[in-house]
Amino acid sequence: MKNQVCSTISLLLFLLLITASLKVSAQVCKASGKIRGKKPLPGQCNTENNSDCCAEGKLYTTYKCSPAVSGRTKATLTINSFEEGGDGGAPSECDNKFHSDDMPVVALSTGWFNKKGRCLNNITIHGNGHSVVAMVVDECDSTMGCDSDHDYQPPCPNNIVDASKAVWKALGVPKSDCGGLDILWSDA
Ligand SMILES: *[C@@H]1O[C@H](CO)[C@@H](O)[C@H](O)[C@H]1NC(C)=O
Ligand SMILES: *[C@@H]1O[C@H](CO)[C@@H](O)[C@H](O)[C@H]1NC(C)=O
Repeated sequence: MKNQVCSTISLLLFLLLITASLKVSAQVCKASGKIRGKKPLPGQCNTENNSDCCAEGKLYTTYKCSPAVSGRTKATLTINSFEEGGDGGAPSECDNKFHSDDMPVVALSTGWFNKKGRCLNNITIHGNGHSVVAMVVDECDSTMGCDSDHDYQPPCPNNIVDASKAVWKALGVPKSDCGGLDILWSDA
């Protein structure tokens, strides 16, 4: 009898442990796949503004999700051109328009873009001791890349706020330092 109670308790504890670990893994954003880089043809993948080009044979991780959003979500700020002929490629996904790089606009990684859920909403970006409000106009695609639609650039990591020159200027970052900046963002 005593043994039975013991094994029942152990079983309950075991089940509890499994549910707890499942809950934890549901919150963690896991990779969705990998893409093998193809060599861009001549004239493809414009590197003018330090855009990254896919390397032949290299594996790139893809994501359909991003880290959970809080009041202070950690991200990496990168620079993008939203103008026609810029390295952003096609018009912005939210409004099918190009945007002046003098306007504070951003593209968000796929998970945060949330199937257009943040389109034309504003976010507040804190970085370099300053803050700026910017409008979400596009997706930084974490699910695909290394093809002509993405100018042979790798898939976007899942924690990116890809911002126009105006955002970097407002944060007071000199042009030469517009690489990857650790920032915090929140819905405005
Ligand atoms: C590079 O950046 C400048 C300044 O933001 C912009 O005018 C130009 O169109 C960009 N070039 C490409 C290829 O994106
Ligand atoms: C975001 O900010 C812009 C510029 O200030 C404003 O025109 C727009 O209405 C704002 N969007 C929302 C959804 O509040």
